[in-house]
Amino acid sequence: MKFFIDTANLSEIREAYDLGVLDGVTTNPSLMAKEGITGDENVMAHYKAICDIVDDKVSAEVITTDFEGMIREGKELAKIDDKIVVKIPMIKDGVKALKYFKSEGIRTNCTLIFSSGQALLAAKAGASYVSPFIGRLDDISYDGLELISQIVHIYQNYGYETEVLAASVRHTMHLIKCAEIGADVVTCPLKVITGLLKHPLTDSGLAQFLADHAKAAGK
Ligand code: E4P
Repeated sequence: MKFFIDTANLSEIREAYDLGVLDGVTTNPSLMAKEGITGDENVMAHYKAICDIVDDKVSAEVITTDFEGMIREGKELAKIDDKIVVKIPMIKDGVKALKYFKSEGIRTNCTLIFSSGQALLAAKAGASYVSPFIGRLDDISYDGLELISQIVHIYQNYGYETEVLAASVRHTMHLIKCAEIGADVVTCPLKVITGLLKHPLTDSGLAQFLADHAKAAGK
């Protein structure tokens, strides 16, 4: 399973990359705004800065919602760096844009997926990734992980190459369950990745090993 980090914060991206387990980055307009990145030039420069940290797969989201606008904006984003994946919302013009970018050899991530029908449409249109939002479904009493299972099952039935990118991942159990289900990718905050490190028996076991070593050495 691939690990993407879901942030536009450069130091968090660097920290995850330095850990040696990072396969990509996802951003969205809210995450860019959170970092105070505004204005076309600054936004483009920030995407470039992210691409300079990681090896590949940096999702950059269009903010236009009509077909021509998404094509124009997506092409501009794709020009920033070969690592860019153009993020397109699951709307009618977005589906057409996915098809267009597929024909141009530009990778896409279809975002705001909340049903298996939407995921099926995106795969048929040639999306490289679909992003079902687990946490936001859980927030309104729908089972986000069940949606991941449905999409993985449907894609396996037909051999779609579109990768299931579980998004809106809020905690380590979301990530672990996604791995059990067979999601291709999870994107999550840094704290979810580092949360996988934690176990009290690891901490107490290490403390004991070090204490025993010091005692034997007469320290
Ligand atoms: C990623 O591509 C999504 O934009 C993101 O995971 C949404 O997460 P949130 O529901 O925590 O905002």
